[in-house]
Amino acid sequence: MERMHDEKPKKKVTFYLLYSVFTAAIGSLQFGYNTGVINAPEQKLRRFFQNVSMERYGEPFSPGTNTILWSFAVAIFSVGGMIGSFSVGAVVTKFGRRKSMLLSNILALIGGGLMGLSSVSRSFEMVIIGRLIIGIFCGLCTGLTPMYLGEIAPTAVRGAFGTLHQLALVIGILVAQIFGLEFLLGSDTLWPLLLALTILPAILQSILLPFCPESPRYLLIVLNQEEEARKVLVSLRGCEDVSDDIQEMKEEGMKMAMEKKVTIPELFRSRNYRQPIIIAIILQLSQQLSGINAVFYYSTGIFDTAGVTEPIYATIGAGVVNTIFTVVSLFLVERAGRRTLHLIGLGGMAIFALIMTISLSLVVSDVRMITLVLYAYKHTNLVLILFVSHSEQKDNPSLSYLAIVAVFGFVASFEMGPGPIPWFIVAELFSQGPRPAAMAVSGFSNWTANFLVGLGFPKLEELCGPYVFIIFAVFLVLFFIFTYLRVPETRGRTFDEIAQGFASSAGKPSPVPEPMSVGLTEGKEAPPMSPTD
Ligand code: GLC
Repeated sequence: MERMHDEKPKKKVTFYLLYSVFTAAIGSLQFGYNTGVINAPEQKLRRFFQNVSMERYGEPFSPGTNTILWSFAVAIFSVGGMIGSFSVGAVVTKFGRRKSMLLSNILALIGGGLMGLSSVSRSFEMVIIGRLIIGIFCGLCTGLTPMYLGEIAPTAVRGAFGTLHQLALVIGILVAQIFGLEFLLGSDTLWPLLLALTILPAILQSILLPFCPESPRYLLIVLNQEEEARKVLVSLRGCEDVSDDIQEMKEEGMKMAMEKKVTIPELFRSRNYRQPIIIAIILQLSQQLSGINAVFYYSTGIFDTAGVTEPIYATIGAGVVNTIFTVVSLFLVERAGRRTLHLIGLGGMAIFALIMTISLSLVVSDVRMITLVLYAYKHTNLVLILFVSHSEQKDNPSLSYLAIVAVFGFVASFEMGPGPIPWFIVAELFSQGPRPAAMAVSGFSNWTANFLVGLGFPKLEELCGPYVFIIFAVFLVLFFIFTYLRVPETRGRTFDEIAQGFASSAGKPSPVPEPMSVGLTEGKEAPPMSPTD
């Protein structure tokens, strides 16, 4: 098959395109903000739960009940995320992309409102229900934003646009970390405002969205409104000649018309979709089981263990590194390609996970050594010099620095590939027909793994101590091998070319020896496609 964009692909980015991208990316910012916002005010919220119990029942909750309630308030966000992400397919097919984003903001208003009013209403239940609703909202955002961005972006910069979802997301986390500082909104009185702040971006997005176009792919392929789609493309691309885009969409539409509507079970049954859906799910799992949220949910505790004196600022430092490296990835993703960056990211994370383990275990063994020396000192005065040298080592900040470097390196590697890529590559791996169902399945896998790590990490840490990150290192190595063997490069290819690659590799016998080498740019070699069956 001939590549469709042999000539240099158009890279013109218009103001209208940027406006639409900015507006959609507010949804990603919301996801990030609500992911990061719950960490800083933990103690204040726990106290609030206790006070409510005192007022209602005349006694505080037992520490166990309080912890369960707190974990519930944290984890229910991911449960909401699972529900929201799973509903994406049905919602976009019914309402279209733009209206779905608009409607989802109602959830942000309700969720933010409930959390904001929980303190004056003396109800911790409102925090929990608010977190659930905000989780559903964020689950929708994780499907809607990447899908919309992928569908309005010109092919040549689709990866960079996809990465903008992650960029807005990490900025959201950072803003939440900063606003959560005690002297800003993380105080005993202002935390309800901190949680309710999500209402503001929801209002802003609702004002901006009506001026954004509906996705041209949705207009043409799903609604069959070619004229409308053409108009949208003309304003997005800033030129009258949009025949390439229209032609590409029509071809995709024709293929879709030949397929019947793709349901979730069919994704797994059909030979054409089985391989891409497995890849999509595993990429999402590689993002979450890398252990990134063990850092984002619990980094303050990790830094504390490593003897860092101001752990909250190290956490904010991680947020800053996170943002910087997402920008780096934004510039690299169309040059180095998705697959290469994902591999570099996974490999880097595995190495930094090991360095983190070394630094944490040295801190712990250092403490153990001091105890041992103290014990020996009781019986003989000979070890005094040894004790002095070890107590110096404890005060020596080199181990704390090593832990900080390891966490920052871990986060930086994550943002090179495993952070941004899984979110947008799903939209690339599937054509219009199966895309909504695929987004739903992969989003659900991501949120489920997020939930498991969030809930399971404290227990794992209790069991494994400083070696807990070895578990993630093992996962990272396995995902590295899988990516190396199975994940195709999608950079610079049209959606249709990518889908074609899978279709020909699923059909046996394939007349094309290396189907995914079709459409590669700059003569880069494609990874061999490995047929799954
Ligand atoms: C991601 C993950 C999210 C994580 C964030 C960190 O995109 O989906 O769970 O918190 O990156 O930057």
